Amino acid sequence: MSAQIDVMLSEDQIQERIKGLASEIRKDFGNEEIILLCILKGSYIFCADLMRALGSPCQVEFLRAESYGDATETSGEVKLHYHFTKSLAGKNVILVEDIVDTGTTLKFIMESMKNKEQPKTLKLASLLSKPSRRVHETQIDYLGFEIEDKFVIGYGLDYAQNYRELPYIGVYQGDAN
Ligand code: IMP
Repeated sequence: MSAQIDVMLSEDQIQERIKGLASEIRKDFGNEEIILLCILKGSYIFCADLMRALGSPCQVEFLRAESYGDATETSGEVKLHYHFTKSLAGKNVILVEDIVDTGTTLKFIMESMKNKEQPKTLKLASLLSKPSRRVHETQIDYLGFEIEDKFVIGYGLDYAQNYRELPYIGVYQGDAN
């Protein structure tokens, strides 16, 4: 059994866009230190490539957001697990997300970060956005690609924990026999 996957964004398209995002970020922050706050699990590959494109001075911290289980729809409940190794108070923090869909996850994280950590600046970088699905208004400061309402996998994004290893973003069309 193999999955039917249509390529939506190639590896080259993704890598080119990430270079563009890194220049936008460096234009805004110059040589100031940036802390990338990687939202696990989906954004770890994007975050690693963005970090290498940004160069120094740059650090990474992790936060795990649990909302989907194995389904393709958000449950509306988001549980946050912090894995910070230091306080982010007074720092330039960029949340790194794989995809903004309804905006529920980001709403929880933004509110929690502002109350808990009080960073100097708090911005959002997202590789993908599905604006047609939005329930909570979300300001994406650095956006990779706007996409239509299709369930996508690859480059860190999963379907039931699979396909994160694909180097491209594809539309999952189900399993072929
Ligand atoms: P939101 O809270 O509805 O904005 O959903 C955001 C989270 O849902 C993302 O961080 C992903 O983990 C997951 N998600 C939303 N759309 C997709 C998709 O098309 N493929 C894989 N995961 C998705």
